[in-house]
Amino acid sequence: MSRSLFSVLFLSLWATLRLCRADQPPFLRDELYNEAERGRFVYQTFKTSELQPPRWNMMSPFNKCDDGSYFFMTTRGNIPDSTFYIMDHDGSMVWGPDHHYGETYNFQVQKYKGEPVLVFWAGDDSIGGHGEGKYYMLDKHYVEIKTVSGGAGIRADLHSFSITEDNHAIFTGYEVIPHDLTEVGRPADSYIWESLFQEIDIETGDVVFEWRASEHFPFLDAYVNPNQATRNDPWDFFHINMVEKDADGNFLVSTRYGRCVLYVDGKTGEILWRLGGKRNSFKDLSGGLATTFLGQHDAHWYKGHEYITMFDNHGDWFHTIEDESKGHMIKVDLAQMTANLTASYVHPDHILSTSQGSMQVLPNENVLIGYGFNGAFTEYTWDGDAICDAYFEPRQRMGSGDVQSYRDLKFNWTGIPLTNPSIAHENDTLYVSWLGSTKTRSWLLQDSDAADGVFKSVLTTPKKGFETEYDLPSGKRMRQYVRAIAVDEGGTQLSISPPVDLSDPSLIWTGEVPTSTHEDEHAHEDSDDDEEDHAHGYARMREDLEDVQILLILGILAIISAFLIVFMTFGCRSLGIRRLRSEKDAVLGGFKDDGVVRRMWEGAKSWIPGRKRSWRDYAGGG
Ligand SMILES: *[C@@H]1O[C@H](CO)[C@@H](O)[C@H](O)[C@H]1NC(C)=O
Ligand SMILES: *[C@@H]1O[C@H](CO)[C@@H](O)[C@H](O)[C@H]1NC(C)=O
Ligand SMILES: *[C@@H]1O[C@H](CO)[C@@H](O)[C@H](O)[C@H]1NC(C)=O
Repeated sequence: MSRSLFSVLFLSLWATLRLCRADQPPFLRDELYNEAERGRFVYQTFKTSELQPPRWNMMSPFNKCDDGSYFFMTTRGNIPDSTFYIMDHDGSMVWGPDHHYGETYNFQVQKYKGEPVLVFWAGDDSIGGHGEGKYYMLDKHYVEIKTVSGGAGIRADLHSFSITEDNHAIFTGYEVIPHDLTEVGRPADSYIWESLFQEIDIETGDVVFEWRASEHFPFLDAYVNPNQATRNDPWDFFHINMVEKDADGNFLVSTRYGRCVLYVDGKTGEILWRLGGKRNSFKDLSGGLATTFLGQHDAHWYKGHEYITMFDNHGDWFHTIEDESKGHMIKVDLAQMTANLTASYVHPDHILSTSQGSMQVLPNENVLIGYGFNGAFTEYTWDGDAICDAYFEPRQRMGSGDVQSYRDLKFNWTGIPLTNPSIAHENDTLYVSWLGSTKTRSWLLQDSDAADGVFKSVLTTPKKGFETEYDLPSGKRMRQYVRAIAVDEGGTQLSISPPVDLSDPSLIWTGEVPTSTHEDEHAHEDSDDDEEDHAHGYARMREDLEDVQILLILGILAIISAFLIVFMTFGCRSLGIRRLRSEKDAVLGGFKDDGVVRRMWEGAKSWIPGRKRSWRDYAGGG
């Protein structure tokens, strides 16, 4: 008992004394970053993952906006890897896909059949500025469960996708169709980009509803002049970029080139009213500010029909009103048909984004704005004060399109990956990560003399960032093979990495399932659908951990007692402070008798050789 107590005590002290680091931290108001001196895209690299997520420049740190949720962003532009990430409020990566899906947009959490799912669009975005591709749906294990590509020959476009409570998908689509454009001075045999949206039953793929802009929206109401309007270069007159179905079964539709938000009857397709644009239906109580926007994105209802929110780009490829984009909170009264701009969200650095962007009203009524064409996102109070702000593109390069993210959103998410943690070893540093795990709080390191031998717990170290770095002590006290076990907040062991061979510095494991060891063969089996089974598989290891925890607590108690005992026996006696002494007696409760104290001290001293022996035994293998 005393041997293992002291070894664990020592190991835990050793663990806390060793340097434990995370990935590189985000920058804080870094001038070199903003002047692009650190590169046009500043990113992280890891030993245990190929992913290269952005390293943020916190202009105002996001940790004060941390509500336990995560960021969902899709970085692309002139960057090495156009892909998407889940990040936390410290700017650490949580998850990114393990393969390239193409250009990706619109990454978010939605609910399908009552379960949270990851959805994103991926495909070829070079087609007509809106792209052709499909939506992917991933479950909490990051397993693809569905793709939605549109019905009746239409490919889902990247702009908008939502899942209704009856598990229908509502999304935008584009189609080149011939159309008579004589009313706008173009030939009768012209072509347009039809803007449309569909509602489909995800299960069957059946189209439940389809709406086409050219059937309801007059060409003359568009703010964009016709181009050649040929088959190869059709006229994009409407540019749908958002559609949302409400509880009444009607649709809110945003048209970029119509500069308005439409309310579309869910049965007839008729436009019931318009906010903004050439045929605005609302009386503007804000002197025009509530109904004048340009190139807007991400329009939503908020609080039933009380507000319409949107990211007003205040500009598009062809025009700008002012030199800054802003989020809008517009209070609408559908009985009086009035609109009032109750708040605006303007970036302190006056960022203007001529495309993309998002506005999300969070559950705590803060407002998160993503700057789309520019690598920046900012959280505001309801009233419009910017409280958290981060760049993932140098300020000086904004406007270049180097680093974009269609939308930047926040969602709660629980990810339970089916892969194992990854471990790597280089220059006496261990690197440990588990891509996609949101529950891991610490790492239990174990060592063994053989890759398939019995592994013994060495120490626990807190998880830091995405990839926890742990410096091995010089003199190699760990045995040759080391593996890491992901441990959650309650001390449950979640998954085990393959072993890494400390004697082979070139060996970098990347989370492949190793051949099972006799000690934990159940632990490698994935029993994701059966948590009981899962728990059973780890029962043995959890017992080990509980032992370690109990021993740790005992160890710490022993240190404290030893300290007090030493102080009492030597400190008090030599100082002769009686009053202090009696206070200490009180603290120590029953241990008033000097004889008892001395006997305990002798006992404690006698443990020390045992400790040393056990330490050498323990560390001798390396
Ligand atoms: C419009 O909103 C502003 C800001 O909330 C408010 O001060 C003003 O009273 C509102 N105007 C009307 C007519 O309701
Ligand atoms: C995430 O969950 C927490 C706890 O329930 C909640 O307070 C917070 O508002 C949620 N955040 C988001 C973005 O949904
Ligand atoms: C490991 O050491 C080599 C040689 O000194 C060095 O080139 C390399 O950068 C080091 N790796 C890390 C991760 O520090």
